[in-house]
Amino acid sequence: MPKDTVRFGVIGCGEIAVQTCQGIAAAPNAEIAMLMDARPEVLRDLGEFYGAPTTTNLDEVLANPEVDAVYIATPHYLHAPIGIRAAQAGKHVLVEKPIATTLEDADALIAECRKQGVKLGVAFLAQGDAAMNAARDLIRAGVIGQIIAVRIMALGDKPDTYWHGGYTQRVHTDWRTRKDQSGGGILIMNVVHDLNTVRYVTGLEVKRVYAEYDTLATPVEVEDVIGVVMRYTNGAIGVIQAGSRMRGRAHQDVPGPRIYGTKGQIILADKPLIYLVEPFEGMMPNTWAEIPFSGPAGDRATMITRFAEAILNDTEPPVSGLDGRKALEIIVAAYRSGEIGQPVEIA
Ligand SMILES: NC(=O)c1ccc[n+]([C@@H]2O[C@H](COP(=O)([O-])OP(=O)(O)OC[C@H]3O[C@@H](n4cnc5c(N)ncnc54)[C@H](O)[C@@H]3O)[C@@H](O)[C@H]2O)c1
Repeated sequence: MPKDTVRFGVIGCGEIAVQTCQGIAAAPNAEIAMLMDARPEVLRDLGEFYGAPTTTNLDEVLANPEVDAVYIATPHYLHAPIGIRAAQAGKHVLVEKPIATTLEDADALIAECRKQGVKLGVAFLAQGDAAMNAARDLIRAGVIGQIIAVRIMALGDKPDTYWHGGYTQRVHTDWRTRKDQSGGGILIMNVVHDLNTVRYVTGLEVKRVYAEYDTLATPVEVEDVIGVVMRYTNGAIGVIQAGSRMRGRAHQDVPGPRIYGTKGQIILADKPLIYLVEPFEGMMPNTWAEIPFSGPAGDRATMITRFAEAILNDTEPPVSGLDGRKALEIIVAAYRSGEIGQPVEIA
C-alpha cells in the first residue's frame, strides 16, 4: 500500500455512493481504485467520471491488490455479509449506516474485522464535525450542567417515489420498503444518525426503551410513525418522535437533537445553539447564542480523510464498529419493545 494514500473499492454505486465518491476524490489521502455494483447501469457514469475500473463481480474487488479498503453502500441487510467477505480478503471496511440490521450480524462483522486485523468504520458524520465537537467540549466542561433530557425529532414527508428509488431515483428498487432488507423505516434509516450524534456528543448510553410504532400512511412494510421513550444510564429521559409522512413537518422548529441540562440547553443543529442560565466565557445568560466553532463540517470528504488516517497511522477509526453497534442496539430494542408492548432493557 502506498504510504500516504488509501485506495478504495466502492461497493454499491447507488444514490449515496455518488456523494461518497466525491468525498474520496476530495480527500487528500484517498483515491477510488475500483467501483462495483450488481447493476452495470449505475457503474457507467461513475467509472467514466473517475476513470476507475468497474465490475459487477464482488470477487474481483476483493481479489484486487490495488484495493486497500472497501466502502459499502448497499441495502442494509448486505452490509455485514459483504463486510465480512471483505475483511476475509484483508480489506479495511468502511460501512454505511446502519452497521447491520441485527446485532448478531453487527457482532459477526466486528469479530471478523478484529480477527483479520483490518479497520472497521461506520459512515456517521458527527464524529468529524467541528460543530459537534464544539458542543461536545462544552457539555464535557459541564457548561449546561447535568443532562436530564434529550429530544430527537425526525419529521420527514418523503415523497411516494422515495420508496422505490430514494430521493434521486438513481436506482429503481424496493429495499427501503422491506423489513427484511432495510431492517425498518425512519428509525433505522434516519434516526440512527441522531442516536449516534447524541451518544457521541453527550457520552450517555441508553439503558431502557419503550416504543410504539406503526405503518399508518404509506404502503410499505416498515414503520412510518414511531415514538420512543428512552432512559439513559445517568437517569436522563429521552424522547424520539419520528415519521416519514408528517405533513408540514416541524414548522419552524430548529432542527437537530436537543440536550437539556440543569444549567442550559444545546441544540445540535448544523450551527449548534446554546442557552445558559449562568455566564460562560463571554456567553450571556438567559439568551440563545450560536456555539462558536472552526474546522471541517461533518461531510464525506472529512469522513473519508479520517478513516484513511486511521488506516495509515494504524489508529482506531473515528467511528468504530462498536459505535455502530451501540446505535443499532437502541434501534433493535425499540423495535422489540413495540412488538411486545413492553419496555426493553439494554444490556
Ligand atoms: N441516500 C442517502 O441519502 C443516504 C445517505 C446516507 C447513507 N445512506 C446509506 O447508504 C446505503 C445505500 O443507500 P442508497 O440510498 O445509496 O441506496 P441505493 O438503492 O440508491 O443504492 C444501493 C446500491 O447497492 C447495489 N446493490 C444491491 N445489491 C448489491 C450487491 N449484492 N452487491 C453490490 N451492489 C449491490 C444496488 O444495485 C444499488 O446501486 C444504505 O445503507 C443507506 O442507509 C444513504
